[in-house]
Amino acid sequence: MNVLDSAIAAVVPRLPQSVVGRVSRKYIAGETLDSALDATRALNQCGMSVTLDVLGENIDSAGQADPTVKTYRDALSEMDSRSLDGNISIKLTHLGLRVDRAACEANARAIVADAHRRGIFVRVDMEDSGTTDATLEVFRELRSEFSGVGIVLQSALRRSEADARALAAEGARVRVCKGIYREPKAIAFQDATEIRHSFLRLVDILLGHGCHVAIATHDDELVEKSGHLLEERGGCDGSYEYQMLLGVREDLRRDLVAAGHPMRVYVPFGQDWYAYSIRRLKENPRIAGHIARAMLRRRG
Ligand code: FDA
Repeated sequence: MNVLDSAIAAVVPRLPQSVVGRVSRKYIAGETLDSALDATRALNQCGMSVTLDVLGENIDSAGQADPTVKTYRDALSEMDSRSLDGNISIKLTHLGLRVDRAACEANARAIVADAHRRGIFVRVDMEDSGTTDATLEVFRELRSEFSGVGIVLQSALRRSEADARALAAEGARVRVCKGIYREPKAIAFQDATEIRHSFLRLVDILLGHGCHVAIATHDDELVEKSGHLLEERGGCDGSYEYQMLLGVREDLRRDLVAAGHPMRVYVPFGQDWYAYSIRRLKENPRIAGHIARAMLRRRG
């Protein structure tokens, strides 16, 4: 980030919620399951699959996870009955990881069991480094019972190479991303080049073991170099997909689909959109223009 980007990133959390809502509309498929299912159908019609994410994280009591579990189960039921091409992504802190580990596991198990009955895959998102060990443990618990569950590794974390080797040996399905959480230097690469190298190393390790890899990035260089890794292995048909976030780099997404690559779009929805939007806006160096326009519209 340059100085201007950093300044903008610092200002973003202080913006009025209405402005954040307006600017981040493109990253979120509305507040309801119906709106997310409409977005799913539209993406399916353009040749892309979807992973649905019920927005939210870090609840204060285990009971707060109940509506989330219900929404995920409704999503599974609706995707199934409407024959949509989609799966789900869950965050363990949203299911109670930080307040009641046993309740979190029970919640995750209920969702994964339901998905398993319907033949739908579940991805366990990776959150900040304070949750990495617990997330991997819960993932491994779930995977010992159900095959259709996968995990995420963040290339910014120094530990991820070792995690990738262990997960590769277990034949896990892994999404590789850079990692969105700001982590200290002692445990995380800070330099963009190092994070990219790490990303490609993780993809290479996992492909090398025949694991299914989700290449989750909008970074041209990583898309291109991951493509080379796939080619070196003869295309890896059926053992990879590209993944992108709703509303980000739709040009690149279209090009990859046109070139015949499997593409899955991460579609967040729900009422708890604020924290997600703030993270997305801080990440995008071009938000200055969007925000300025949104502010002017608000005043106009
Ligand atoms: P980078 O941030 O360098 O972006 C590359 C280019 O994409 C930018 O130059 C810009 O053009 C464009 N771009 C990026 N973000 C944009 C935005 N918000 N708006 C507009 N343009 C934008 N992280 C995590 O910690 N745990 C997780 O479980 C996941 N899960 C996940 C799933 C999927 C499907 C994706 C795509 C990403 C994640 N992430 C994640 C987020 C990930 O770690 C990372 O923060 C973002 O993908 C941004 O990194 P890129 O690799 O895209 O590169």
